[in-house]
Amino acid sequence: MNTHNELQSTIADLVVKGKGILAADESAPTIAKRFKAVNLESTEENRRAYRSMLLETPNIGDYISGVILFEESLTHTTDNGIPLPQLAAQQGIVAGIKVDKGFLPLAGAAGDNITQGLDGLAERLLLYKEQGARFAKWREVYAISPTNPTCLGIEANAETLARYAAICQSVGMVPIVEPEVLLDGSHSIDRCYEVIEAVQHAVFHALYRHGVIFETMLLKPSMVIQGKDHPMKATPEEIAEKTLKELRRTVPAAVPSINFLSGGQTPAEATANLNAINSMAGNAPWLLSFSYARALQEPVLQSWAGKAENVTAAQAELYKRAKLNGAAQLGQYSSDMENN
Ligand code: 13P
Repeated sequence: MNTHNELQSTIADLVVKGKGILAADESAPTIAKRFKAVNLESTEENRRAYRSMLLETPNIGDYISGVILFEESLTHTTDNGIPLPQLAAQQGIVAGIKVDKGFLPLAGAAGDNITQGLDGLAERLLLYKEQGARFAKWREVYAISPTNPTCLGIEANAETLARYAAICQSVGMVPIVEPEVLLDGSHSIDRCYEVIEAVQHAVFHALYRHGVIFETMLLKPSMVIQGKDHPMKATPEEIAEKTLKELRRTVPAAVPSINFLSGGQTPAEATANLNAINSMAGNAPWLLSFSYARALQEPVLQSWAGKAENVTAAQAELYKRAKLNGAAQLGQYSSDMENN
């Protein structure tokens, strides 16, 4: 298959009505933090057991079309010796890989960050492809303050995302472009709107300059929401209205799917907000779906807590959240479904 056909077939497998992406690509420090919350040590064996369990959930492919893995998971196997990318494929799920190497402060732009990992990326992608990954993810992180992100921060991060996405497409890997605007802080929803709009304008301008083909990439943005310390909590309808307005202004219609991150919303909030977005989307040109980590995994981890006897209950939690978010992708979720 040539590179373009490869990209198109991956997009066709990932972009499916009623389905979304499971992000299970926490870096070593992040998964250690998540495990610590349930008193579990982050050993390689615990990480392998946990991520095998997620992908072994019976029929999870009903609502999940793709899974983003962390590097070590590509070489991990289940208790029965099945490599995780192969297990994903058996469940009808496309395996992907987080390829960025985390962020550092951006020199010259106090308060802004920049993500590392472009050097040698093409070679790494070829190895990940051999190991079964068909798409990649790269995250740039923007904190909101009265002065951040700066113009320089917005430009530099956009350039990095575009270089990453162009390299991915050149080797036949679909890039997920993730400009994450953080929920931390006391900013208003309108300030969040202003930042996301500026960030995404710059990102799509850079993607265009670097020749990235919009039809064979995915966007993973934050929703437009007030900071988590802001006194007024917006309703799902307000969040949906502002998120859709900003997306219509910044994202070309050629992009096939927008898969939101959850960013610290509770599982039920992330589902209700996605549902409101789809309920109000009208004839939006893109699929509007999810690529959640915490909002899918929080109840699963709490239920599992590292104990083999809890696997069935934990998998039931994952299936439930995936199903509810699948319904939200179709605008068919209601909060009473939480209790079934
Ligand atoms: P959350 O859904 O927990 O924000 O994680 C999504 C993700 O992949 C962040 O990079």
